[in-house]
Amino acid sequence: MKFATPATTNPIDQLKVVGRTVDRIDGPLKTTGTAPYAYEQREGIPNAAYGHVLGAAIAKGRIASIDTGEARRAPGVLAVVTAASAGKLGKGKFNTARLLAGPAVQHYHQAVALVVAETFEQARAAAQLVRVKYVKERGEYDLEHAKDKAGVPKDDQPDSKFGDFAKGYEASPVRLDARYTTPDQSHAMMEPHASIASWEGDRLTVWTANQMIDWTKGDMAKTLGIPKDKVRLVSPYVGGGFGGKLFLRAEALLAALGARAAGRPVKVALTRPLMFNNTTHRPATIQRIRIGATREGKITAIGHESWSGDLPGGKPETAVQQTRLLYAGADRMTRTRLAVLDLPEGNAMRAPGEAPGLMALEIAMDEMAEKLRMDPVRFRVINDTTSDPEKPGRRFSQRRLVDCLRIGAERFGWNARKAEPGQTRDGRWLIGMGVAAAFRNNLVMKSAARVRLDRSGVVTVETDMTDIGTGSYTVIAQTAAEMMGVPLDKVVVRLGDSDFPVSAGSGGQWGANSATAGVYAACVRLREAVAAKLGLPADAEFADGQVRGGGRSAPLARAAEAAELVAEDAMEYGDLDKQFQQSTFGAHFVEAAVDAYTGETRVRRMLAVCAAGRILNPKSARSQVIGAMTMGVGAALMEHLVVDKRAGYFVNHDLAGYEVPVHADIPHQDVIFLDETDPVSSPMKAKGVGELGICGVGAAVANAIYNATGARVRDYPVTLDKLL
Ligand code: MOS
Repeated sequence: MKFATPATTNPIDQLKVVGRTVDRIDGPLKTTGTAPYAYEQREGIPNAAYGHVLGAAIAKGRIASIDTGEARRAPGVLAVVTAASAGKLGKGKFNTARLLAGPAVQHYHQAVALVVAETFEQARAAAQLVRVKYVKERGEYDLEHAKDKAGVPKDDQPDSKFGDFAKGYEASPVRLDARYTTPDQSHAMMEPHASIASWEGDRLTVWTANQMIDWTKGDMAKTLGIPKDKVRLVSPYVGGGFGGKLFLRAEALLAALGARAAGRPVKVALTRPLMFNNTTHRPATIQRIRIGATREGKITAIGHESWSGDLPGGKPETAVQQTRLLYAGADRMTRTRLAVLDLPEGNAMRAPGEAPGLMALEIAMDEMAEKLRMDPVRFRVINDTTSDPEKPGRRFSQRRLVDCLRIGAERFGWNARKAEPGQTRDGRWLIGMGVAAAFRNNLVMKSAARVRLDRSGVVTVETDMTDIGTGSYTVIAQTAAEMMGVPLDKVVVRLGDSDFPVSAGSGGQWGANSATAGVYAACVRLREAVAAKLGLPADAEFADGQVRGGGRSAPLARAAEAAELVAEDAMEYGDLDKQFQQSTFGAHFVEAAVDAYTGETRVRRMLAVCAAGRILNPKSARSQVIGAMTMGVGAALMEHLVVDKRAGYFVNHDLAGYEVPVHADIPHQDVIFLDETDPVSSPMKAKGVGELGICGVGAAVANAIYNATGARVRDYPVTLDKLL
C-alpha cells in the first residue's frame, strides 16, 4: 500500500505495546549462546567442509602464477578455488573490487584462493602451501598526495551552491578557515563475515551474516551468473554489521564456489586478520570548513569541502551532507571530491557521511563560538533554521535541534562549564565540557511482510528483515501485537530469510521505521481478512484477542478456525521527500578529563538528547544510542587504520592493533528521547536513531578536550601525542 500522508490516527497510536519498554526477544538466545549464527548453523547442513581464504600479499599488480598442486595433495583437502578454476564470474551491483582476484590484484588481502578441506586446521595448513607469484605495480595509497588529482564523483549531488559563498565569506567580519582530518576506520564487529553454502542441484542456499538480504541475493546470482530465484539466503542472527555486511562479500561467494567444487556444503569465516583489508572500511577524509559570521554570531557564509579516496569506480565519503541542512546562512557551498586510491574498498560505516562530517563541522562550530566569545550552545541555537537553507520554503517534517541543545544543556549542568580552556582541575586531571549537534537524515524504504493467523490465535510475521543486534525482532513483534490486538507472547517473528517478503533491510538507520511500517501494511490486510471472515465491519477494533464492531464481538482466533489466514503487503512511499526534509536531530554533551602530565584522556560523562520521531521501544532504542555513543568515543580517541604508504595496506589488522573502547573507557551514559511523533515519516511515525547516536560524538569529545586543555586537535583520533 501507498503511505497516506501525513499519517492520521491509526491503531499504532493506541500504544499498548508499541512505544513501551520491552526486553529484546532474542536477548536470552544471544546471551546464552544459543542463537545460531551463520557459521554455527547445523540444521539441514550435514557434512560441511571448511574453507580457508588466502588473501593477496600485494596491494596492486597481478598474479603471474598460482601453483595449487601441493595444497591439493595436502591431507584432507577437497578442493582449491582460484579465479582460474572458478569459471566466469560476473560483478555484483554493490561491489567496487572483485571478490576473487586474478589475474589482476586490486587491493591487499583481496581473496586469491579458497582451500576446502575436511577440517578447519587442514584447510588453514594447506592454504599455506598455495604458491603465488605476484608482479607488483605501483599504487597510490596516500590520500594527502592523491587529493590534488581528485575528481568529481559520479554522485547525485557532489556539489551544492546557494547564494555567493566567496563574496559572503569575504564580507563576514568573523571568519574561520580550518582543515580537519578523519582516518580510515574499520567496522570491527564481533562476528566476522561468515557463511555456509550448500547446493542442491542448481539451487544454492547460503546461511550468512548479512544486513541486506535482497541486495545480496541479487549480487550472489549476478556474480555466479545464475537466476536470482535459484539463490536462497538465510541470516536470522547477525553479530553486528555497522555497514560492513550490507553487501555480498568474499566469504559468501567463496563458500558457494567452494561448495560447488567440493560437492559438499562448505563453511567459510574470515579470520580476524583478514577482516580489515579483505572487507570494506570507512574511508579517511580531509575536510576544509569555512564559516563567516556577523559579530553578533549569525552565520552569513558556510562552506564545506571534503576529499576521500577509493578504488577506481568507487564512491566518496559524503562528509558534507549535514552542512547543507544543519545551520542557517545566506551564502553556502559544499563540494565532494574523490581521489583514486589502491587501498581496500571504502564503503558505508555507521552513519556514512554525517559521522565523519560532523566530526569536522562540530569542531569548526566550537572554534567559531570561541572567536565570537559566545557560548557554543547559544551559537548553535541562534543559527537554527526551520526550512532547508538551500531550498527555502522546503520545511523539515520535524526539527527540534534547539530543544535537544537546551534540554541537554540543562540536564548536563552545562552552566558549570568555564568558557576559558584549562580552568578546571581535579588533582592531576584537567576537566572540560564539550557539546556537538547531532544530525542524520531519515530515509524511508519500501518494505514488505507476510502475517499469518492460526487457530490458536498466534500471529506469525515473516519478512527478510535482519536483526543485526538492533532489536528488529522485538519492534516487529510489538507492531504486530498492537495491530492485531494480541499480547506479545502470541506473536512469532521470523526474519532474515530470502524466502520471506523483501523488506527494507538493516542500513542507513532506516530499518526499524521502514520494516515495522511494512508489518503494519501486512497487518492492515490481515485485519481486513479477519473482519470479513467474522462478518464484522471493516473498521472493527482489535484488542485483547477480540475483534469488535457493529455492536458485536468475536475472538480473533475464530477467524482462523477452519484454515490459517495469510496476508501480505508492502508499505511504499511517494515523493514526500520533495515536500518535506526528513531528518533526525540531537545533541551530545561530554565531560572529559585529561591527565595534565601524560595527556591521557578519560571520558567522564556523556549525555545524548535525541529527537527522532516516535521511539518504538525505549529500551532497544536507548541501547542503540549507547552503542553509537561508545563507537563515537572510539572514533574520537582510538580508531585509526594505519596505512603503510609504501606497501599499501592497513597495518593494524587485528583487535590488538585496531583499538576500540572497552568497558573501562566508557563512563555512565545518559540518553534522553524527546517525546515526538513524525506523521510524515511512516504510519509508525517513527524515525531512525541507531546512527544518529554516533553523529557528533567525536566532536563533542574533541571539544571537551579543548575546553579541558586548550589544545585544539583537528586530526582524529585525538591521541595523547597530539596534546603534549
Ligand atoms: Mo549502515 S553504515 O547503512 O549499515
